[in-house]
Amino acid sequence: MLGVDLCQELRKEHELIGVDVIASPALRHCEEAFRPTKPFDPSTKAQGRSRAKPRDDKSSGLRPEQGRRTKQSHKCDVTNKREILQVVKNMRPDIVIHTAAMTDVDGCEVDQKKAYKINAEGARNVALACKAVDAALIYLSTDFVFDGKKKNPYKETDKTDPLSVYADSKLKGEAAAKRILKKYFILRTGWLYGKHGKNFVDTILKKAKTEKALKVVDDQTGSPTYTKDIAKAIHVLISVIASPEVILRHCEGTKCQKQSQKIEYGVYHISNSGSVSWFDYAKEILKLAGSQTKVLPISSKELDRPAKRPRMSVLDNSKFIKFPGHKMRNWQEALKEYMTPSLRGHEVPEAISQAKRG
Ligand SMILES: NC(=O)c1ccc[n+]([C@@H]2O[C@H](COP(=O)([O-])OP(=O)(O)OC[C@H]3O[C@@H](n4cnc5c(N)ncnc54)[C@H](OP(=O)(O)O)[C@@H]3O)[C@@H](O)[C@H]2O)c1
Repeated sequence: MLGVDLCQELRKEHELIGVDVIASPALRHCEEAFRPTKPFDPSTKAQGRSRAKPRDDKSSGLRPEQGRRTKQSHKCDVTNKREILQVVKNMRPDIVIHTAAMTDVDGCEVDQKKAYKINAEGARNVALACKAVDAALIYLSTDFVFDGKKKNPYKETDKTDPLSVYADSKLKGEAAAKRILKKYFILRTGWLYGKHGKNFVDTILKKAKTEKALKVVDDQTGSPTYTKDIAKAIHVLISVIASPEVILRHCEGTKCQKQSQKIEYGVYHISNSGSVSWFDYAKEILKLAGSQTKVLPISSKELDRPAKRPRMSVLDNSKFIKFPGHKMRNWQEALKEYMTPSLRGHEVPEAISQAKRG
């Protein structure tokens, strides 16, 4: 889901980005995303945005273009250490964004071996490959690394205590990145939805077509996050890595304040701001869709799923606001855009248009 949105977001300024997204199903879109739409012109300045210097300029965070392969995407399995290493060595990326994972949280409880192989060992393989070519790693992790006992949003410094195999395997992936690399960003997010793949929004809308009432848990709180917004945040981060000396911050209207920034690697929390329970989230989705279907609250215990989830997994985004200087918008605003065709600039999934019709 996130991989494809990332490809589409990054292609807008891909000439400054040495990113290769490694995930199999996203490949078709990635091939297209990395096909140059215009030749790289280092003298071009984007409006209101910092740009990478020419790649042979040592002050830019990127390497010279010379010697790079032109083919920008490869199909590979993150559990295959040799293959990952070979692909990364061939591509010599500056940054690897590692989004591939086994994300079926309940499935991870059932096939624990597979979960650890993909999420923990896979992340370690990617980190080792990054080390081999001195690339920075951006690793997507999860709000589920916390136990949910906290009352207020989780900070990066809060103690982790995963409740499920999925969360533990992702945390082991984090640990591998920290152990192997100096240049890493661990981006923890949660409750993702986006245009590609299965998500809660589309599931609720689909069910609302055939059921008069939906039962949804009301004892878990988090921050629904639009993959397009994560993609934008990663875009900002990459712009800073590519041009570490100066970034433009605090833009108001046409006025931007210039500030020098040092790259601050480490763990970051990024999710749409604000928080909601799954129950109120479902109500908001149906309200925006104009659906008459009712939502009934149930407890997690009643739902009885194999994996335990944290009761509260809201993330505090303030570190990411300081560096690289990006603020995530409110979850309701993002959801409204996702569900409104004229706002989001692409077709609405069948589930949404049908819910609106019915
Ligand atoms: N979804 C969420 O709510 C959420 C929340 C917090 C963090 N995250 C993290 O964000 C990242 C992206 O999540 P997402 O929802 O976009 O996940 P997704 O839609 O499930 O995509 C994950 C991708 O990884 C691929 N993959 C699985 N095993 C692989 C392997 N061995 N080698 C290469 N690719 C493999 C999957 O391919 P197949 O489909 O072919 O298996 C899939 O395309 C993940 O790291 C996830 O842990 C997600």
